[in-house]
Amino acid sequence: RESLVPFAPADLHYGLRSEFMADKCLEKVNLVIGAYRDDRGQPWVLPTVAQAIQLYHDDALQNQEYLPIAGEQSFCKAAAHLLLGCEDSDMQNRKFSFQTISGTGAVHLGAVFLSKFLAVPKPLVYLSDPTWDNHVPVFTHAGLSVKHYQYYSTETRLLNFEGMIQDLQDAPRGSIIVLQASAHNPTGVDPSQSQWEQIAETMKSSGHFAFFDCAYQGFATGDLMQDSFAVRHFFQQGIEMFIAQSFSKNLGLYGQRTGCLHYVANPGSEASSTVQRVASQLSSLQRSEISTPPLYGAKIASLVLNDKTLSKDWLGDLATMSERIAKMRAELQGRLEELGTPGNWRHITTQIGMFAYTGLNESEVELLRTKWHVYMLPSGRMSVAGLNSRNVSYVADAIHDVVGK
Ligand code: LMR
Repeated sequence: RESLVPFAPADLHYGLRSEFMADKCLEKVNLVIGAYRDDRGQPWVLPTVAQAIQLYHDDALQNQEYLPIAGEQSFCKAAAHLLLGCEDSDMQNRKFSFQTISGTGAVHLGAVFLSKFLAVPKPLVYLSDPTWDNHVPVFTHAGLSVKHYQYYSTETRLLNFEGMIQDLQDAPRGSIIVLQASAHNPTGVDPSQSQWEQIAETMKSSGHFAFFDCAYQGFATGDLMQDSFAVRHFFQQGIEMFIAQSFSKNLGLYGQRTGCLHYVANPGSEASSTVQRVASQLSSLQRSEISTPPLYGAKIASLVLNDKTLSKDWLGDLATMSERIAKMRAELQGRLEELGTPGNWRHITTQIGMFAYTGLNESEVELLRTKWHVYMLPSGRMSVAGLNSRNVSYVADAIHDVVGK
């Protein structure tokens, strides 16, 4: 019986994180997981979240009841408003929001739903090349087959827009296209607003289903509305879609697994009944998988998003995070240029969000880890949030040393 269960490989991100934790070197630097760190390299509880925790404290002592299957509605409503920028009454009964186990749980729930209800042969899921490492397992685990569309050009280190549009046009009609709303993971390269408009056109003319993953709203430009432009534009264009939304990064609620899955129907007389039918099935899937979603993170997020003062102060917290990351990008690039490290390092500051797609190859990344105790993904993706004023020069020296070796 033992031989029926082979070992699964360790998860790339969490496997490296464990290796980092076990590393005894004092200079070690963790640039693996996309989680914000302050300038002392410490996890940061957002001050607005800390205030919400205080506010929630007495309630939490009184009540630890189950949430409804679809989750905390004050949270789901505010989350949808943050993404789509309109009130419930403006949504013409076109959408339904479900609280999920953060963004991953939202992608999973949407994937299981699509796998169960889309007609056989099931449509293919198209992911950007490259994409977040966990996208492939989440979709294939749900019984869907994945392919990639061209996205990033390793030559120009920019978006390969023509390639992307071509692949979306060539994909079989009605395919599921996974799009990252902003601050693309792992490349830090996003389409411009006019490119999003063209992507929406192509999606419509090809009859594709849009599946947005929105894990970094507020991290790309520091402006929440601008970072959800793509989602709002698709909504206005009447495109049917799922949107997976995470509050791990922008509220720093990583371990609380706080997120939503939003379903948006095509506009029209059928919209309301479609939404109700989809919601009933999502509800039944959610019940069979997790019964009801977790309470704590949703209550905290709801307090921040719904309170006038806290939601305003939250913008300051977002600016603190995105400005520190931008500063680290500039310092790393500046130091590499000062050292004369071979290659062009401008992309470190032109890429946005939490990650830099450094262009370092697998053996250079390995040498960084074994010789310098600097940890990042084998793809060369660096979580810039792991840099701080104490280690940025060390990391630049390490990169300088390994490039071309
Ligand atoms: C990342 O890409 O590093 C984060 O989204 C964390 C994770 O779960 O992989």
